[in-house]
Amino acid sequence: MVPASPVARPLRHVARALFPCVWRGKYFSSGNEPAESNRVTPMFRHLMYKIKSTGPITVAEYMKEVLTNPDKGYYVHHDMLGEKGDFITSPEISQIFGELVGIWFISEWMSSGKSSAFQLVELGPGRGTLTGDILRVFSQLGSVLKTCDISVHLVEVSQKLSEFQALTLTDKKIPLERDAESLVYMKGVTKSGIPVSWYRDLKDVPKGYSFYLANEFFDVLPIHKFQKTPHGWREVLIDIDPQVSDKLRFVLAPGATPAEAFIQCGETRDHIEVCPEAGVIIQELSQRIALTGGAALIADYGHDGTKTDTFRGFCSHKLHDVLIAPGTADLTADVDFSYLRRMTQGKAASLGPIQQQTFLKNMGIDVRLKVLLDKADEPSVRQQLLHGYNMLMNPKKMGERFNFFALLPHQRLQVGSHQMGTCQSKPSASSPVAGFGELTWQ
Ligand SMILES: C[S@@+](CC[C@H](N)C(=O)[O-])C[C@H]1O[C@@H](n2cnc3c(N)ncnc32)[C@H](O)[C@@H]1O
Repeated sequence: MVPASPVARPLRHVARALFPCVWRGKYFSSGNEPAESNRVTPMFRHLMYKIKSTGPITVAEYMKEVLTNPDKGYYVHHDMLGEKGDFITSPEISQIFGELVGIWFISEWMSSGKSSAFQLVELGPGRGTLTGDILRVFSQLGSVLKTCDISVHLVEVSQKLSEFQALTLTDKKIPLERDAESLVYMKGVTKSGIPVSWYRDLKDVPKGYSFYLANEFFDVLPIHKFQKTPHGWREVLIDIDPQVSDKLRFVLAPGATPAEAFIQCGETRDHIEVCPEAGVIIQELSQRIALTGGAALIADYGHDGTKTDTFRGFCSHKLHDVLIAPGTADLTADVDFSYLRRMTQGKAASLGPIQQQTFLKNMGIDVRLKVLLDKADEPSVRQQLLHGYNMLMNPKKMGERFNFFALLPHQRLQVGSHQMGTCQSKPSASSPVAGFGELTWQ
């Protein structure tokens, strides 16, 4: 089915998997780290200037500037993943994660009529490890996919990370496109001969039958924070501390602010976080899936509309005060899956959220682990495999905190349905969606 042996990852991968790294879903509060000596970063100076000119800024504006400002943003120039970085993600922990996600896409491709072509689109691909593991599964299942025309499309704002992705997937450095107007900013061919293109925005990816993937992407999108007060909802803003000139602090807006429109009527919590950018992306994905078919698989830590303050920072695998030394730490907030579900606006069907341990178990992680262990000769590789399994599955680690959520065409869930698109053969009666029920092969 998939490669029988553990993938020979470079030594740094072994070290990374065994290093006691922090996955970002572990903490709930925004943290209270001791002040850092060097908190006046270039990003801090940029924000001070901005706040002095126009007044306190929203948390969403703060997050957007700190993470993706084209000049000084945290994601733009850092490699933040792995043992030398600030946090670790599932595909960086174990090859099995990407392999099972690859099988999920093949299972959906088969269940929806084996289209003659599809696009694999990843949002926020980090180092490209996840897409790399998926493409390896596609190669191994070449006999199943042999007549299918596959292309890869990566949506990435970080130039630094897009360089890593190019190296992971194509083994080459790829120059930036010369035409500044081009929607594609890099183009290449993967090691297995599949065309791969890079974009800054999902809207720029060609519309067509696609499988979309987002692992730990939605949690870095900017959130607005609101506090319930006797005068109604008030947005949490970020201002300069009048007592300490090189310090930022949270304040409440004196009156209503535009993002209040995103709060649901009848909201019972007294503090909430809303993420309009996530809503825009879900609407775009739902429309695309409704029009051209395919599916989206979203994996992240989050909740179903129940949590309150989840905004936090990570630096060197430690919780980090979100207001200190901006630009040197990752900022993140739990994904509200109930909001994502609402934002489909009925255009696509949704499944989940379902806990990572359940999804991976349904996808056959135990069988896959056994195959890899049986083939592994070296004790260090066996240890890496077992450690990775434990990190992904243990309820106290990532097993319960991380969730899978899927978007599918409505027809996919209707029994005996015909699928969309002109180039697909007629599917059999609707089969259960793998991962969200037990995996079945037809
Ligand atoms: C937490 S990392 C996750 C990386 C990867 N998916 C993984 O699991 O290892 C977030 C990724 O999203 C990218 N990113 C952040 N904001 C983005 C945005 N607005 N548009 C596109 N990519 C973004 C980052 O550069 C990075 O690649």
